[in-house]
Amino acid sequence: MVQLAPSVLSADFSRLGEELNVIEKAGVKMLHIDVMDGTFVPNISLGMPVIQSMRKVSNMFFDVHLMVSNPDNIIESIAKCGADGITVHAETCTHLHRTIQNIKKLGLKVGVALNPATPINVLDYIIQDIDMVLIMTVNPGFGGQSYIEKMTQKIKDTRDMCNRLGLNTDIQVDGGISPKNAKEVIEAGATVLVAGSSVFGENKEERIKEFCKIFEEGRK
Ligand code: DX5
Ligand code: ZN
Repeated sequence: MVQLAPSVLSADFSRLGEELNVIEKAGVKMLHIDVMDGTFVPNISLGMPVIQSMRKVSNMFFDVHLMVSNPDNIIESIAKCGADGITVHAETCTHLHRTIQNIKKLGLKVGVALNPATPINVLDYIIQDIDMVLIMTVNPGFGGQSYIEKMTQKIKDTRDMCNRLGLNTDIQVDGGISPKNAKEVIEAGATVLVAGSSVFGENKEERIKEFCKIFEEGRK
């Protein structure tokens, strides 16, 4: 099954509760939440208090994407704020295997993200332990960037790796995803499509419907 995970980074933060309400009513089950520290990426987004507030008004699966230099320091607090899944960047974890186990011990789903330049062989010895691989399809840090075409091959290579190992691991794609390239990434093997600027703004319901139509067509 393919699903959409709207990225809250592109929401209107002055009306956050309302924004979440609209997308949840439109059928969205997973919310992608970008946490940035201004060090690993040159931007700062939101943190614990905002996640906690959002948790009070939403039942969506909170998929937290940590773009921070020292994720181990905040994993437990992020979990306490109401995250359902945490994704860490392989580039930020000196002891990636240990970090994965720590997230699992908290009872959360775990994902590992790879920047565009990071090869997929970093997954070789840990892929069996994780629920999701996040293939960054832009360099992380900002919404509204263009999809890096070369990443289509990387999605295919990751899907091949999973197939070879008999794994059904989710492959999430994040950055520059819109109804225009949704079919391309799904055919390559992506199962979770993060979309920020192509969902939030005017006509959210229409945009979500557009994605869902593409998912339906892929199922036929
Ligand atoms: C970028 C973030 C994304 C971002 C995607 O570093 O990880 O989740 O919100 O935004 P769009 O869909 O606009 O490229
Ligand atoms: Zn993200």
